[in-house]
Amino acid sequence: MTQPHEPDPCVLVIFGASGDLTQRKLIPALMELDHQDRLPRGLCVLGVSRTPMTDDEWRARLKPHVQKHVANFNDTHWHHFAQRLHYQPGSATEPTMYPAMTQRINDIARRHGTIKPTADQPNILFYLSVAPQLYSGIIEQIGASGLVMEGKRWCAIDPAAMPWQRIVIEKPFGVDVASAEALNRSLGRVFEEEAIYRIDHYLGKELVQNILVMRFANTLFEPVWNNQYVDHVQLTAAESVGVGRRAGTFYDDAGAMRDMIQSHLLQVLALVAMEVPSAYNQHAIRREKIKIISAARPITVEEAHLNGVFGRYGASGNRDDEDAGKAYEELEGVNADKRTETYAALRVHFDNWRWAGVPFYIRSGKKMARKLTEILIQFRQPPVNLFRFMPELAESAAGRPANRIIINVSPEDGVSLRFEAKVPGPIFKIESVKMDMDYAKAFNAEPIEAYGPLMLDAMRGDQTLYKHRDEVETGWRIVQPVLDSRKARETIQTYRAGSWGPDAADELLARDGRRWHNPPKGETR
Ligand code: BG6
Repeated sequence: MTQPHEPDPCVLVIFGASGDLTQRKLIPALMELDHQDRLPRGLCVLGVSRTPMTDDEWRARLKPHVQKHVANFNDTHWHHFAQRLHYQPGSATEPTMYPAMTQRINDIARRHGTIKPTADQPNILFYLSVAPQLYSGIIEQIGASGLVMEGKRWCAIDPAAMPWQRIVIEKPFGVDVASAEALNRSLGRVFEEEAIYRIDHYLGKELVQNILVMRFANTLFEPVWNNQYVDHVQLTAAESVGVGRRAGTFYDDAGAMRDMIQSHLLQVLALVAMEVPSAYNQHAIRREKIKIISAARPITVEEAHLNGVFGRYGASGNRDDEDAGKAYEELEGVNADKRTETYAALRVHFDNWRWAGVPFYIRSGKKMARKLTEILIQFRQPPVNLFRFMPELAESAAGRPANRIIINVSPEDGVSLRFEAKVPGPIFKIESVKMDMDYAKAFNAEPIEAYGPLMLDAMRGDQTLYKHRDEVETGWRIVQPVLDSRKARETIQTYRAGSWGPDAADELLARDGRRWHNPPKGETR
């Protein structure tokens, strides 16, 4: 792989400047990068939203959020960083806003020295951090504004000398197969696929990126990473918090399957299950991800109930939590007819040589027993139990736990390997032991906010950690029948707030003779 080059200076135009994501994640992540001196010189931000505000008013609004989310915040640094931030009021779906916005982009680019002298224009990174129903309207207006110079116009000239225009777009990428295709078509009318950055913050997590390193930079794991040795795989993304105020504004239209499984967890699944790419670069990796997602066995609506489970949390009785202790369906803005789930589980099989016969169980839910994101690779028992006739081992020899690897993505970032060992002493006994790698201790480093490095990747034109349109559309094809079956189901099971989800999810695994890994709070891997 050629080393990624430095991020290019650009004007980052954030649509949805007064939104939650911008305040809590994007601007704090940029300030962290600035603090580490990793932002390109000349990078400046133009926040766009409808609220009339001046640059200074926007900065003042952002400051308390940044203060809350950036470690080692200090006023001097903020003052310095805030000079990069500018604001343009206006409705991004209205054409009338664009001449003023274009003028502003050029003005601030000039002021910060961001203009590409060869073209008298800056590079522009658009960031859609708005409600998804606004996506198409904004994309269309960006196209109509003339700000995006289609490839053809520049192909005769040196492309490196020309300014680029790219777009980062947040999930959800549609709500089903048809809307995802429509969104991709709408993006494709304005931007080349190489300029479209579908962001998934899970791909920015260190432990998720480490999956490929663990698999392909070692000889130890890959030879056993297949159906000959692996019994099954579990992916869990459990959250202890409820939906709270997001219920009416967003969550009731999404639900756990769309919000977490179709998006983040299918990406993690692809990294765990894909074949070795021919090189560590965006093309080869994305090609392999598309291949493995396409190898998922189609689930029909009729058999969806055997492969998918939905649930929603009941009342917690804790009036201090984000839902004031209410059950999901009692939250403001929830429409009971939509049957939105706050928990979903899915069983996926891949019809390929590596994984035939190995189920992958995926689950995600709100108000569960604890915050836990982990990948568990459960290995098979050894083919022969050498110790079966030893009288001292009569009890344990029958069902010794098989080996397993747990990759803890959060909150205790690290990897652990469980294996069997002889207990020291004259009596021959075997017990399971764990070998633990704690990321923070091993590298003496704290995890960093995923958004920052991902934005830098977009500025340097590296799409490795972004999703290709085919990954998104194929992902929808996996979950769509299960989602469709939700409508036909009479009830959605209620699970106890603070539990590990509905009984039906336990039954999903029990039918296959397996159990979820539900570690108690405080237990590391
Ligand atoms: C977001 C979902 O994409 O991911 C949220 O919309 C969820 O509902 C969040 O809480 C979880 O992210 P993380 O990084 O805390 O696991």
